[in-house]
Amino acid sequence: MASREQWNSKAGFLMAAVGSAVGLGNMWRFSYLTAEGGGAAFVALYLVFTLMVGLPVMLAELTVGRGSGKSPIQALAHYANGVTGGVAWKLLGVVFVAAGFLILAYYGVIAGWTVRYAGEALMGFGADPAAHFGEISQGIDAFLFHVVFMAVTVWIVRSGVTTGIERVSLFAMPLLFVLVIGIAVYASTLDGVGPGYAYYLNADFANALSTKVAVDAAGQAFFSLSLGMGAMLTYASYLGRDHDLPVESAIIATADFGVAFLAGLMVFPLIFALGLQSDVLGLESDGSTIGALFVALPKAFAGMGDAGRVVGFLFFLALVVGALTSAISLLEVVVSAAIDGLGWERSRAAIVMGAAITLLGAAAASSTDVLGVMDGVANNLFLVGGGLGLAIFVGWLMKDPIAEARTGDRQGWLTGWLFLLRFVVPAVLLWVLWNSVPATLDSIAGLFR
Ligand code: PHE
Repeated sequence: MASREQWNSKAGFLMAAVGSAVGLGNMWRFSYLTAEGGGAAFVALYLVFTLMVGLPVMLAELTVGRGSGKSPIQALAHYANGVTGGVAWKLLGVVFVAAGFLILAYYGVIAGWTVRYAGEALMGFGADPAAHFGEISQGIDAFLFHVVFMAVTVWIVRSGVTTGIERVSLFAMPLLFVLVIGIAVYASTLDGVGPGYAYYLNADFANALSTKVAVDAAGQAFFSLSLGMGAMLTYASYLGRDHDLPVESAIIATADFGVAFLAGLMVFPLIFALGLQSDVLGLESDGSTIGALFVALPKAFAGMGDAGRVVGFLFFLALVVGALTSAISLLEVVVSAAIDGLGWERSRAAIVMGAAITLLGAAAASSTDVLGVMDGVANNLFLVGGGLGLAIFVGWLMKDPIAEARTGDRQGWLTGWLFLLRFVVPAVLLWVLWNSVPATLDSIAGLFR
């Protein structure tokens, strides 16, 4: 077998990993969860979970990926020798790949909305964004834009790790940073944005300290960092031994949090400047939350005249770019598993798996209720459960994880890492599962009632 492909440069890996992390999760999901969860209090909780739970699991994924040089299923088998449970740990890898399948299926549908909105922004949004969103978010329209988005994703993954993924990330991520910073700065120049900042930056802990908000914040930390389903593991499998994994984990997490934070600095001032907060914060019927951004922001852009067309286009362009580099990483998990496990060629794996995922997306495109349930199942069950499994495997069973993770002599940090991975991460994730599984199962049952 030819030796495994490797990233061309450190920056290439970092941009790809940041590209995986930064996506719709940072902009669409983060904004509406923040609105639901009481503004800054939610952000604070989310930051705590990122540091306490997200970072340790990220380092665990990078460690297993780099050490094995394999895709998730084979990577777990690589370390499972002589470990309690043995090769049954491969099943965790199977769950990872299944999660990639499930997430990309609905992620592609939301990404399709953003592609459409980028185009519509240029032409100017119409008078009734709520009705418009209701029409285009479900049904054949939603499916067709999903197909377009998936075709581009497949094409990039098919082109290879360095010639496809790395190249696109090196171009896309700087573009995304410029867009997000530029729009946040522009928003700050509008009149009437004060209440938007106040809402976003003043903590309303009374509202936020509920179990539901904490569970959402933990799930969001996992989703946003692309953890619990082998995306970071897979990207790290293309790394050499010379990478300082703790430092790189910290860089990825910082960039991810930074973009989410900036997204709040774009979204809340824009919405409050136009007095549209009730569109997002009212949240009368649940389910409307998923679409809140796609309704309130077009209204805001429509109210801003010609400037709104340009800013609206750039805003949705940023979403498209973020979504694309994340979708690439989701597909890469499934594709690399097919290459390693089934012996397929990359091209065949990308096309066949991409087509299968696109078809599964029809379920998400059929109704936003189904999409919401897929999102809940993916986060609350797959990612949190997958992160728990990996924390137990690396923290308790794998032989000498510290030696696998280290490059130089950062022993002190790594002892702290192992402590978090062994005790804090499992405790927090079990608590999250305990509190979210009944509601998640109930939401699935709800689809059939
Ligand atoms: N982190 C991505 C986002 O925030 C989503 C994602 C989740 C990507 C899991 C890969 C794996 O949009």
